[in-house]
Amino acid sequence: MKRTPVVVAASLLVSTAGFGAVEGTAHDLSGQGLNPTSEVCVFCHTPHGAIPVVPLWNHTLSTESYSEYSSPTLQAESAPAPLQNSTGVSNLCLSCHDGSVALSMMVNIPPTGDPEIGLMGAVSANLGTDLSNDHPINIVYDAALVARDPELALPGPGGANLPRIELFGPGANEVQCASCHDPHDDSIRPFLVKSTAGSALCLVCHLK
Ligand code: HEC
Ligand code: HEC
Ligand code: HEC
Ligand code: HEC
Repeated sequence: MKRTPVVVAASLLVSTAGFGAVEGTAHDLSGQGLNPTSEVCVFCHTPHGAIPVVPLWNHTLSTESYSEYSSPTLQAESAPAPLQNSTGVSNLCLSCHDGSVALSMMVNIPPTGDPEIGLMGAVSANLGTDLSNDHPINIVYDAALVARDPELALPGPGGANLPRIELFGPGANEVQCASCHDPHDDSIRPFLVKSTAGSALCLVCHLK
């Protein structure tokens, strides 16, 4: 689903339903000495002075380069914006999950916050910069790809799986981290948009 920056700004200001969803999850970094306030959203979003990136992004972006998944049978093309130094949604995740930028590094930090504490440690959630052992991301997933690989099915409009399984990017046709994860909702752990029971998540896109 495409949202304009204006709509995002409005929902950021009025979204209270989201608050309860993030609060108390692994994405609630408040009260950990990283930020003196009880703010939950601030590690990722700011209402003003954001990096000029949807959705009002506040976490300092990584400058790392990544090894990406490849295989002889992979047919999907890379998204137009490369993963390096890009502002795509996966890079937002990787700004914490590649382990190179402190969790507390924000563009707009509360005045007494210490900007330097807390890199993500050596936990399994730290994906590092080698993404070659992870599901491909930043790939174009469109009708042309499905025509080349008939074992794929688009989670498109009218499909039972919308709106939760989203494709991203300028053409709204890219698989990114947030196609499978919702960073605001840990009710299906870990932050999944659909359960992996019976591999339901995978079977949305893969006809296997
Ligand atoms: C750990 C990082 C993180 C935290 C904390 C976080 N968000 Fe987000 N948010 C994201 C990312 C990444 C996206 C873009 C991907 C997406 O749309 O799911 C996003 C997108 C959004 C959007 C636009 C798209 C949508 O899903 O509606 C809104 C509005 C939003 N966040 C509001 C909030 C609010 C309000 C809070 C605090 C309660 C919050 N977020 C906390 C990472 C975060
Ligand atoms: C502001 C930093 C930050 C951003 C941005 C962020 N995360 Fe996280 N995420 C964390 C931290 C911290 C943890 C907990 C790591 C640990 O285990 O100590 C975490 C944990 C997770 C987990 C594992 C939860 C569990 O219960 O094991 C998933 C999945 C995840 N994040 C996905 C994402 C995705 C996808 C995005 C982007 C849409 C994203 N995160 C953006 C900081 C972030
Ligand atoms: C095709 C779907 C899919 C995509 C795309 C995807 N993930 Fe995941 N991710 C999963 C599933 C399913 C799990 C839970 C099973 C597992 O741990 O392997 C998971 C687990 C995780 C975990 C928890 C790992 C752990 O052991 O604590 C993190 C963190 C995470 N993903 C982050 C990301 C980030 C960041 C991206 C983008 C770079 C991403 N994911 C892209 C499906 C996906
Ligand atoms: C949002 C759609 C989507 C979801 C959900 C999804 N995938 Fe994928 N996956 C893709 C696309 C698109 C490709 C690229 C296929 C191609 O190039 O032919 C891909 C590629 C792969 C590949 C590599 C294929 C190759 O030829 O090297 C594997 C393996 C895979 N996915 C497994 C999974 C598993 C397991 C899950 C569930 C945890 C999953 N996928 C969930 C869309 C998805």
